[in-house]
Amino acid sequence: MKFRVEICLGTTCHLMGASELVELERQLPSELAGIVEVIACSCLGACHNRQYGSSPYVRINETKLISEATVQTVTEYLLQEIGENG
Ligand code: FES
Repeated sequence: MKFRVEICLGTTCHLMGASELVELERQLPSELAGIVEVIACSCLGACHNRQYGSSPYVRINETKLISEATVQTVTEYLLQEIGENG
């Protein structure tokens, strides 16, 4: 597995539309099938700090935080990553 995608399902992110993100795994394009693990997590803490932008948040491989995440923006990020890193 190359990418571990954590979808925040904390209260703030949920209210801001994170439930749409649980569709991510089913909507992955074929290039990403089999290399992405999608899991739900509780509050990542980012919603308490404005420097991180707005909810909902997704965290990738414990490091990359995507704010205002949608299925589309997360998919685009992952595709860009496999494009750049082989
Ligand atoms: S509820 Fe998602 S970061 Fe806090």
